[in-house]
Amino acid sequence: MRVKVGGETRDVLALWREGSTVKMIDQRLLPHRFEIISLASHVETAAAIRDMATRGAGAVGCAAGYALAQAALEASGFTPEKFEGYIAGAAETVRGTRPTAVNLFHAVDRCLAAAGDGPVAERGRNMVEAADGIAADDREASRLIGLHGAGLIRDGFRVLTHCNAGALGFLDDGTALSPIRVAHRQGRRVFVWVDETRPRCQGARLTAWEMEMEGLPYALIVDNAAGHFMRRGEVDLVIVGADRVAANGDVANKVGTYEKAVVARENGVPFYVAAPGTTFDQRTPTGNGIDIEERTPEEVTRVWGLDGEGEYRWVQVPMEGTPARNPGFDVTPARYVTGFITEKGIVKPPYASSIRKTFRT
Ligand code: MRU
Repeated sequence: MRVKVGGETRDVLALWREGSTVKMIDQRLLPHRFEIISLASHVETAAAIRDMATRGAGAVGCAAGYALAQAALEASGFTPEKFEGYIAGAAETVRGTRPTAVNLFHAVDRCLAAAGDGPVAERGRNMVEAADGIAADDREASRLIGLHGAGLIRDGFRVLTHCNAGALGFLDDGTALSPIRVAHRQGRRVFVWVDETRPRCQGARLTAWEMEMEGLPYALIVDNAAGHFMRRGEVDLVIVGADRVAANGDVANKVGTYEKAVVARENGVPFYVAAPGTTFDQRTPTGNGIDIEERTPEEVTRVWGLDGEGEYRWVQVPMEGTPARNPGFDVTPARYVTGFITEKGIVKPPYASSIRKTFRT
């Protein structure tokens, strides 16, 4: 992703590995501050996933892979038994960070499976290679999703998106935002409706920032306004990302996605989900089996932003002690999904068979 920070233009990824250090954009500080943090151990990288310094299904998957690579490097001088125990502990730590995005679990499994049973040094090398492979594969999937999805976007289209499924959430152009970027780069006029995405405001803070960086025309709207613009015929297409797609095509994505899908159907607006094979979970038959992260109520009762002095602060909205619930995701039943934009092309219903056929499992 090309970013303009402090008058300078640079190409940067949401996260990357430098030897045994993981570097990432601290997404908690965007859009007002652009800072790269360095994480020296798998414990620090796992904490960065849990605390949402990085977020989005692809980014947490890459971070999980890198954390396992760090653990392998940390244990490089161990005996095979100690190595195995250390890696198993690291895998548990990483798996315990966030429950919904399946990319994280796939990444851990891929690194563990890659290790093999050779000498410790070889197992370590294999795990590091697997982690780098996850990032490389994501970048290629993002590119292909962009190319396949761009065909859905005609000149003058107004596309609505929810949360952030952009370069910050998935290397390297994102999932939902990749087709939008490609259509724009191909010279078509595209306008983006950016849902604010309460409570953490990934749309307002991150997607709007990505739109600015890409030079794409957009408007930020509160989550409740999406139906208003759809009913007035001002939305031509909805594209969202996903954290996990069940075998039947049910989609877990940022809370609020379900409502957008239902209102899109009501208004005849096509609703597409952009997601790579690594976001599909063939072991979970339906959305009912997806673990939905429940986050702290304080994210609902407070808002996070800059004060008049330019300092980040939490501000309390309802009265102190107000009870609140905070599911991080919801499940959109497959029947609302017009199609999946994947690296293998557009996947159409009936999903149970088309998903299986596309990813050959
Ligand atoms: O809680 P977050 O910010 O990690 O949630 C992210 C989303 O819901 C995205 O839409 C999804 O991960 C797709 S990003 C490739």
